[in-house]
Amino acid sequence: MRRAIYPGSFDPVTNGHLDVIERARKLFDEIVVAVAHNDEKQPLFSLQERLDLLRETAGKINNVRIAEFKGLLVEFARTEKAGAVVRGLRAVSDFEFEFQMALMNRQLDAAVETIFLMPKEEYTYLSSRIVKEIARLGGDISSFVPACVAKALTRKFH
Ligand code: PNS
Repeated sequence: MRRAIYPGSFDPVTNGHLDVIERARKLFDEIVVAVAHNDEKQPLFSLQERLDLLRETAGKINNVRIAEFKGLLVEFARTEKAGAVVRGLRAVSDFEFEFQMALMNRQLDAAVETIFLMPKEEYTYLSSRIVKEIARLGGDISSFVPACVAKALTRKFH
């Protein structure tokens, strides 16, 4: 069983995340989309809300499972018997943080390999942070996130 973890804050899930999930699930037997508790990050959506939105949008995809994790990512990967971590790489600006995280995770557990996938070009400028800002300012986010996420954002801000 080739299993990979796709970890993140998913605050909230965007079409870019879903694009990465679709790509990753073709490469592995199972993808575990893992929502980080991220206590120090002050997310807009609670852990439960982030999980619910992921379940609604990606929960029914064959060979995709939604989970949550606390603590070190490599520990979670070990618990799940996953040999890989998948991360989306959009632009040069992502590289430094991703490089640092991948090498640190390798230092912590050499058995876990990080794999980067590039989302569709139209999503390279997309991020949860920017989507939240546009939604907060009343802009149209319907082409960036699934309908249930757009609705949830509208509920938060208006
Ligand atoms: O969507 P994000 O916010 O870019 O995801 C970052 C995340 C959750 C993948 C990262 O912060 C993480 O792995 N946190 C778990 C704690 C951990 O293992 N830290 C050491 C990694 S260098």
